[in-house]
Amino acid sequence: MKVTVVGAGAVGASCAEYIAIKDFASEVVLLDIKEGYAEGKAMDLMQTASLNGFDTKITGTTNDYSKTANSDICVITSGIPRKPGMTREELIGINAGIVKTVSTNLIEHSPNTIMIVVSNPMDTMTYLVHKTTSLPKNRIVGMGGALDSARFKYRLAEALGAPISDVDGMVIGGHSDKGMVPLTRLATRNSVPVSKFISEERLTQVKEDTKVGGATLTKLLGTSAWYAPGAAVSGLVQAIACDLKKMYPCSTLLEGEYGLNDLCIGVPVILGRNGIEEIVEIELTQAEKDHMKESAEGVSKTNALLEL
Ligand code: LAC
Repeated sequence: MKVTVVGAGAVGASCAEYIAIKDFASEVVLLDIKEGYAEGKAMDLMQTASLNGFDTKITGTTNDYSKTANSDICVITSGIPRKPGMTREELIGINAGIVKTVSTNLIEHSPNTIMIVVSNPMDTMTYLVHKTTSLPKNRIVGMGGALDSARFKYRLAEALGAPISDVDGMVIGGHSDKGMVPLTRLATRNSVPVSKFISEERLTQVKEDTKVGGATLTKLLGTSAWYAPGAAVSGLVQAIACDLKKMYPCSTLLEGEYGLNDLCIGVPVILGRNGIEEIVEIELTQAEKDHMKESAEGVSKTNALLEL
């Protein structure tokens, strides 16, 4: 199993690190345009192998896509991250050009790959990869919901005063401050609805804190977060590589599901060796449907800025 991660910045390097630590891939190639940077990160990570006990071989390359040839999975993290006060949507101008070039180069050397898109604005970048590569829709996966759901679980556990392993919850919709749809109604503590333990008001607070999860960190760190994004990507990569048939909310091209068309947005999917093997349609309340529709309108508005 060969995995390429494009972008050896904080998110790309964390992603490579988590994949290696889980030790299910034979090879991870890090690629970056900055001279020597991916090579350096790869060497540093490889020097943790004996300490952390993994056999995954990590190599780095400065923009040489021939080194990525025949990757089973390619992750695109390249582009600029947001700074405090910026929305993910504001990154579109620069990142669209980068994602277009990167996805074209990747597909040339790995025509059978599954692509995971992380660059922001993520739902729009996932849609752009569809338009650029014409890969079948099961082979293009947008990473947002897995991260947003992890942040949701963190906030739920905090509100409940419970360990995170007690908590389950999912965020669908667009990967943006306004677009996320945390499904509080379905969140549980060991199968018991969380509304049994916390007030409606507290749950609304959890929802709002989840939606600005990325922005909160950007403000604290001065740049976009990396540990949870890296870990979320590694979870998707593992689900695909190991054919786990795991359910994650991912951004995928919708063709009528959830009443939506011609856009990529976060919905629950089953991830296995063929990428997105199924889109799971769950019953939503009218309020959730309205929020999802509003979220989709936001994503479509950003998509309209693409020069396709
Ligand atoms: C975040 C970036 C990865 O939410 O979108 O941290």
